[in-house]
Amino acid sequence: MVDFATMSSFGSTARGGVERQAASDADGETRAWFMEWLVARGFRVEIDMIGNIFGLLEWSPGAPYVLMGSHLDSQPLAGRYDGAYGVLAAAHAADRIHRSVLQKEEPLPFNLAVVDWFNEEGSRFKPSMMGSGVYTGKSGLDVALGTVDAAGVSVKSALDALGQRGSFVMTKPAAYAEIHIEQGRVLKREDAQIGVVEATWAANKYEVVVLGEQSHTGATVMEDRRDALYGAALTIAATRDLVDSFEEPLHTSCSELYVFPNSPVVVAREVRMHVDLRSPESEVLAQAGEVLRRAMADIEVKADVRIEARIAHQWDRMAYQPEGVRLARDAAEALGLSHRNIMTVAGHDSTNMKDIVPSVMLFVPSEDGISHNELEFTTDADVCAGVNHLTELAERLCRGGLGVVS
Ligand code: GLV
Ligand code: MN
Ligand code: MN
Repeated sequence: MVDFATMSSFGSTARGGVERQAASDADGETRAWFMEWLVARGFRVEIDMIGNIFGLLEWSPGAPYVLMGSHLDSQPLAGRYDGAYGVLAAAHAADRIHRSVLQKEEPLPFNLAVVDWFNEEGSRFKPSMMGSGVYTGKSGLDVALGTVDAAGVSVKSALDALGQRGSFVMTKPAAYAEIHIEQGRVLKREDAQIGVVEATWAANKYEVVVLGEQSHTGATVMEDRRDALYGAALTIAATRDLVDSFEEPLHTSCSELYVFPNSPVVVAREVRMHVDLRSPESEVLAQAGEVLRRAMADIEVKADVRIEARIAHQWDRMAYQPEGVRLARDAAEALGLSHRNIMTVAGHDSTNMKDIVPSVMLFVPSEDGISHNELEFTTDADVCAGVNHLTELAERLCRGGLGVVS
């Protein structure tokens, strides 16, 4: 657990969490420490063009890699293990397997690599899952590098300032595995040590712009106002109320707001905000999107504003490969770990990876399901059980558990 405590000291916050948004100094320090950790244990370390860090163990020259990892970056004032757990768990699992290979002098048929995907959170630079998005070809490299934060700093210059942008090209792995904290209550409620993810909820994320007219908050008569902030407030309420129109599970929120000019005596001319809709059913999301568009049309009339909404990032409900689910369950059985199948509500880098290679996603329990909050917590026992499970799974993957060496 010493390594997990050291990792959590980078960007640590007063209430036991971390703050290390992508390519911030704290993220850079964590990544530098992680690279040193890997080098000290015999991994070859490489960085690709979007800042993903790979630690490679090649014991069968030329054979495909099994890849596992997650992300070291965090949301503002976030929990210590969201993503970071999966990166260090993968590194420990790989190191254990490496030591056993060296000791037995018996290389496995697949090589093994670990990864820290750059900017999974998408808080400083949108969208989320950026590093794995570029790696899997879902996003363009140039667009990602040119993406700017609220202060106008680009991904490219932020990575360059840390000296953490490379030119490595990682080959397509044979399989991918990721372990993460659950960020929900299911495993605790069901008293299971491991969650084997069988599918992901669908997500639609919108960039919404409300356009009004700038004017004086005191002097402008009420009938003349075209208050963008009023239009935004009605949109926020309508987004929340969407949930009442559906019997099926639906999570909705407006989560980021920019108000222009954001001045005390000025009626806002423009509000930009982020709207996030999730459901286990892609069809429900499509319908919810339509209900929201109709509500926005009414708000345009009521607040005398114009509202533009465009999908900025989305993914459908998708199953993880059933053979990966079986392999993960078998590995849990072999270790005597209690487990259950589960869906992921949050997105993960595996959400991208599963679309290009067989991918296995595992969860360990989260106390009270708290996430994106400094009070996020997973017990040491659950942390260790997860590392044991990932080690067993990775070894099976390296023996060709999801296919044969081509
Ligand atoms: C992760 O990126 C999420 O949006 O759940
Ligand atoms: Mn995460
Ligand atoms: Mn997160």
